[in-house]
Amino acid sequence: GAPVEFDVAQVEPGQLVRVGWRGQPVWVTHRTPEMIASLEENRPLLADPDSNVAQQPAYAQNATRSIKPEYSVLIGICTHLGCSPSYRPEVAPADLGGNWRGGYFCACHGSRFDMAGRVWRNVPAPTNLVIPPHRYLSDTLLLIG
Ligand code: FES
Repeated sequence: GAPVEFDVAQVEPGQLVRVGWRGQPVWVTHRTPEMIASLEENRPLLADPDSNVAQQPAYAQNATRSIKPEYSVLIGICTHLGCSPSYRPEVAPADLGGNWRGGYFCACHGSRFDMAGRVWRNVPAPTNLVIPPHRYLSDTLLLIG
């Protein structure tokens, strides 16, 4: 499939926009400063906080799993059995339990991922969400693929 261009300037702080690429949902999320701060706090909860399993291009293996900390780019498919997780950005909703600081929740079997798509410990999904190849053609014009 062809690469897809997407202007991230249209994504409001805290918002997720779905972009299609090769028949897959790609999530572009505009992370707020609070969401970015939550990534460091989540480390003890995570199975692979440093993303050592290669679920991302090398340029996205960093503390925010991104090129620009404000923008997360993820393939929105659970790494367990392929359901599409839901976006749950709110902090500590009652049904997600303690220490929830926002992220993605897969209702199929209860896997949890943080705002960088990093999987929690002790959930069915074995790895972090996949980050597709991408780069910026300008300040805000993203090329996926
Ligand atoms: Fe997501 Fe099983 S498919 S937890």
